[in-house]
Amino acid sequence: MEDKKTIRIALTKGRLEKDTVNLFEKIGYDVSQLKNKGRRLVLEIPGSGIEVVLAKAADVITYVEHGVCDVGVVGKDTIDEHGGRFFEIFDLGFGKCRFALAGKKGENFYEGCQVKTIATKYPNITRRFFQAKAMDIDIVKIEGSVELAPLLGLSNGIIDIVETGTTLKENGLEVYEYVSDISARVIVNPVSMKLKKNSIEQLVSKMKNQL
Ligand code: PRP
Repeated sequence: MEDKKTIRIALTKGRLEKDTVNLFEKIGYDVSQLKNKGRRLVLEIPGSGIEVVLAKAADVITYVEHGVCDVGVVGKDTIDEHGGRFFEIFDLGFGKCRFALAGKKGENFYEGCQVKTIATKYPNITRRFFQAKAMDIDIVKIEGSVELAPLLGLSNGIIDIVETGTTLKENGLEVYEYVSDISARVIVNPVSMKLKKNSIEQLVSKMKNQL
């Protein structure tokens, strides 16, 4: 039986939002509200049964986990760091970048036996990465421009997102090792997946067809 329920979808504000709005436009949805949103945070796609909510990445997960949004578009970086109870159903293929261990150019990170300090916005990912190497490290949580930490002598290295590599290069840093690939993912609340199965499947198949 066809369900015709409204789907509320949370988009990560910024670049993933723009890429997703472009994808919606390719599907043929009326994205005029999304393109002229001003400061509004809740928007309609007229005639589609879709309501769009704009949120910060970690909050996309929180809203989907709590079921106030059915679907979310969020980076794999936030998913891996935050975790949570939701289905990660597919890779949108945009928002591509990588997690890397990086530090001052020309230094051998693994040299010496003193405990190394790593600065990062992603302590959970960092902990898991070094646990897998059975390596003891100290983690310093930084909120942004993490590249500063090794430059100022606060840390031996960073675990951070590298997209073009320009930030590292312009600050005399380099990648020591890649950690994992990142891209935008579609996540779904497990209860919504049952109650709004047809509507969600239709939306997902339209999105997949335009990738
Ligand atoms: C991200 C990331 C790097 C930079 C990498 O930071 O944390 O700093 O982008 O991009 P690149 O390899 O293309 O230079 P963002 O711009 O999100 O700002 P933030 O560091 O303040 O979080």
